[in-house]
Amino acid sequence: MDGRTDILAIESSCDETAAAVVRNGQEVLSNVIYTQIKMHTLYGGVVPELASRKHIEKINFVVQKALDDAHMKLSDVDAVAVTYGPGLVGALLVGVAFAKSLAWASGKPLIGVHHIEGHISANYIEHPELEPPYLGLIVSGGHTHLVIVRDWAEFDILGRTVDDAAGEAFDKVARAIGLGYPGGPKIDAISKEGNPEAIHFPKAHVNKSEYDFSFSGLKSAVLNYLNHAEMTHETVNKADLAASFQKAVVDVLTEHTVHAAKEYNIRRVAMAGGVASNSALREGMQKACQAAGLSLYIPSPVLCTDNAAMIGAAAFHEFEAGRRSGWDLNAVPALRLGERA
Ligand code: KG4
Ligand code: ZN
Repeated sequence: MDGRTDILAIESSCDETAAAVVRNGQEVLSNVIYTQIKMHTLYGGVVPELASRKHIEKINFVVQKALDDAHMKLSDVDAVAVTYGPGLVGALLVGVAFAKSLAWASGKPLIGVHHIEGHISANYIEHPELEPPYLGLIVSGGHTHLVIVRDWAEFDILGRTVDDAAGEAFDKVARAIGLGYPGGPKIDAISKEGNPEAIHFPKAHVNKSEYDFSFSGLKSAVLNYLNHAEMTHETVNKADLAASFQKAVVDVLTEHTVHAAKEYNIRRVAMAGGVASNSALREGMQKACQAAGLSLYIPSPVLCTDNAAMIGAAAFHEFEAGRRSGWDLNAVPALRLGERA
């Protein structure tokens, strides 16, 4: 060993076919992302069957490019890592089968990675000083989790969404106002021209736990607002509507996070997931953390949305802990955070 651990990582859980080579969990030697968004846009959302087929079509090229960009051959890497859940089963299977074949053929260890653990680990790439324990807020298209990261890959879940994920709410509201898919970036952009105070949307409270989230009520409130406007022939200011919806999401995410940091006496907060690239959330969380004396870590936008560099970063800590997956590694579409197959 030369003190370097180079991991080839593969991610195919949803609509991005991605591969990366990451050194020591921090240095990104290559990061290749083939996004299928254009294809799915035609249908207004991700079509699972099409996603799997596209992954099959692209994975060979994407993995080869990741090795080429890193000036490496498969024989040069120390391990092969892959997202094995949660996600779309057919999409996950493509990455898992591909990674297994590569690892088996080259005699390299195989490391199955939890997708959400990957998202949070994106922070380690640009913020080497960040170490557990800290508070993590993961907001993506499929997940909304507020967790205490106790140790590398050890999580205490404080709260989660009881219905739609934050990104899902962005996507559904964008569709309702006619902005198209994927909704998050479109709402983010149009909101810059809108007044976030224009419409007051009620904050959803979840009785069961003070840290849980609920976004479907907010989505319904937006739909009701649109229906009412249609019935009364009022014109809707899309920018104001988007900005007001976005503000409601940002407010609940920041309030829960700061509240949890105070209650558990944690001084560091890290955000992750596609929605963490939202400009209003980045700004709102920065302000809220500053006011509460908390340090905030957020990956660059390209490392917030799905990518394989984050999987390589997470895999490094699994590798260091001696965890390896067997040849029976399978896709686990509903894999829970902290669970291992
Ligand atoms: O993490 P990600 O790429 O995939 C999942 O693991 O789900 O997250 C995708 C989600 C989508 O719902 C997308 O609309 C949302 O992240 N998203 C955003 C922004 N960019 C992506 N939401 C709000 N603002 C953005 N700028
Ligand atoms: Zn993701």
